[in-house]
Amino acid sequence: MTLNRTSFQFLLIILLIIGCNKPVVEIDYTDWSHYGGPEDGARYSSLQQINKENVTQLEVAWTYHTGDATERSQIQCQPIVVNGLIYGTTPKLNVFALNAATGDEIWRFDPFQVLGGENSWAGTNRGVSYWEDGNDKRILFGAGNWLMAVDALTGEPIQEFGDGGKVDLRKGLDTEREDFLIVANAPGVIFKDKIIIGMRLSEGLDAAPGHIRAYNVKTGKREWIFHTIPKEGEFGYDTWDSQFISKIGGANNWAGMVVDQNKEIVFVPTGSATYDFWGGYRKGDNLFANSLIALNANTGERIWHFQAVHHDIWDRDFPANPNLIRIQKDGKWIDAVAQISKQGMTYVFDRVTGEPVWPIVETAVPQSSLPGEETSETQPIPTLPEPFMKMSFQEEDILNLKQEWELDIRSQLKNINYGDTWAVPSSDQGIILFPGMDGGGEWGGASFDPTTQTMYINANQIPWLIEMTPNAEFENVGQSIYSTYCGNCHGLEKKGNPPTIPSLTGISDLYSPDSLGELLQKGRGAMPAFDHISEENKKILVNYLLGKETQEGDKKELDSKDGPLSPRYFMNGYKRLVTKEGLYGSNPPWGLLTAIDMNTGKKKWQVTLGEIDTLSVQGFEPTGTENYGGPVATAGGLLFIAATKDEMIRAFDKETGALLWEAKLPASGHATPAVYEINGKQFLVIACGGGKGTKSGDAYVAFALPD
Ligand code: HEC
Repeated sequence: MTLNRTSFQFLLIILLIIGCNKPVVEIDYTDWSHYGGPEDGARYSSLQQINKENVTQLEVAWTYHTGDATERSQIQCQPIVVNGLIYGTTPKLNVFALNAATGDEIWRFDPFQVLGGENSWAGTNRGVSYWEDGNDKRILFGAGNWLMAVDALTGEPIQEFGDGGKVDLRKGLDTEREDFLIVANAPGVIFKDKIIIGMRLSEGLDAAPGHIRAYNVKTGKREWIFHTIPKEGEFGYDTWDSQFISKIGGANNWAGMVVDQNKEIVFVPTGSATYDFWGGYRKGDNLFANSLIALNANTGERIWHFQAVHHDIWDRDFPANPNLIRIQKDGKWIDAVAQISKQGMTYVFDRVTGEPVWPIVETAVPQSSLPGEETSETQPIPTLPEPFMKMSFQEEDILNLKQEWELDIRSQLKNINYGDTWAVPSSDQGIILFPGMDGGGEWGGASFDPTTQTMYINANQIPWLIEMTPNAEFENVGQSIYSTYCGNCHGLEKKGNPPTIPSLTGISDLYSPDSLGELLQKGRGAMPAFDHISEENKKILVNYLLGKETQEGDKKELDSKDGPLSPRYFMNGYKRLVTKEGLYGSNPPWGLLTAIDMNTGKKKWQVTLGEIDTLSVQGFEPTGTENYGGPVATAGGLLFIAATKDEMIRAFDKETGALLWEAKLPASGHATPAVYEINGKQFLVIACGGGKGTKSGDAYVAFALPD
């Protein structure tokens, strides 16, 4: 067939129209079959049977006791609902299916019966993933370092998936070692016949690299891998110290991901590279740590990335899966992706191009003086959206509800540097990290209401302490090398044995680094040559003898060990700044719930989240509590959230933030609720696993309106 010019143009136009109108798959917001609920992970439900008018009538519809809580166990799981069944995990990481209307158990599977032994690293699990193809319906989940698949209707392992229903995530990381500590805690995301998954890792220098992998859901075969710590020749490799990069781990995704099924892009937020708090082995920006990475979901190829913290030394992992949001800015609709952070900021980008929706400005920040450390001169700060908490801990933020508390906190702040979000610890002064190590935002993530373009974020507003302790191995590296090689002749105190063996105490006047280096290389008379000492150690030794700062001390371990590196400074433990009574060292609120208009980036409202009874009875305003677990907005005008340490679940008016309903749970609901409808009845379910300093629990509790 030949085409004349006009009909060709006509055809082109038709094709263009079809192309532009590529059917946008409408997202079903009654669906709760994904981590985050609907396909876009919005944590939003279009159900409205439960609404502002009747929410106070909510009552417990059913309770499922998992029966396996232990002293400090938790349930962080947000359950999913498919075909009338609700799927979740227990404190001991059993997977279950319940009748979603009654809470009756249909099946339960203990992965460790198949895997053998107990779960060695008291892992947590935030949910499971569902996949189906005709009658083949599967539940996929992580159990420790295993990715497993069971039949969604029976709970039986899928034999043809990997090795009898399981895939070892320690393998297939393109590494020499395979003895890593891995916990697949966040559910993978499903794209076509693939499950794309990240993992939680050790925060030490023994950590695995946090590469992102896609597995075939049917076979368990690895389909692609994206190296979050690049290999030589790959983009980003030059943002590391090539000498050590092969030994660095982390830059992992432990917070979950989200897929734009239509655009075929998976959005992957990552955490920091190891060692988290001293980066002397990873000089440079360290791509793709602390980044939001957009990958082609078919191939794992990078489309764009944004790094929120260059060369992180504060453990500022991205803590939650991002939200796919559709917003209106300057009269235009934008398909955007929004990423909340521990550092209280939200970063918003065009999904396809990665262009920031509001400018993100590289801003000068304080620099570390810790030996061996080289921090980034700038960090990217978004101009909008507005932060969802206070961004620094100042003098006036010191807890002053009672004088004794204030004095307690002030005494702890004597040698502490505070007042700047990006303060850096030095060898003799710690810092207040604020927003803290557990946020700001945390793993519960944000809820986005697509009908009003409003995002809801709960946050912790609590000061944390970072103090660094020198690693004894490095304290006297120079001295230890000296003792090893030189001490027996020149004496441990360098005084020698004149006249045969000269004293070395005054040699800084006689030698330069070069001439001393040459003497060591060649020897002289009865002084042997030392060309068998490595270059690095020679440098350290020369600096030590000439009285110079041992800047190269950080490299000693490389010479002496084949195993993991050891950091030159250790962080002194994860510590919140608290009074003797355990009250946080900042003025409340300590727990916050914020609504942000994502069309303008401006806050709509902000309220205190949670209450500490012992303070309320003393007449203090509610202070809020630390909170873990996310919110869910609904078309009924409500915003549901548990998350607080006061064992409550609450419903707020999503327009105003007014508290409309609250109910006591059997234990704290440190999890995100599920909202679904079955047989015409709307349910709200929350895992009540407690933990985080509250009593542990074993229940999933469902609320509904009375019949
Ligand atoms: C076996 C004994 C021995 C050992 C081990 C030894 N030295 Fe010496 N060193 C000597 C002697 C002997 C001399 C004097 C050499 C000469 O000038 O003839 C000397 C000289 C020196 C001098 C020159 C001092 C001057 O006043 O000019 C330096 C510097 C020195 N040694 C450094 C070291 C260092 C560093 C090490 C360890 C890596 C080391 N030596 C290990 C025996 C030793």
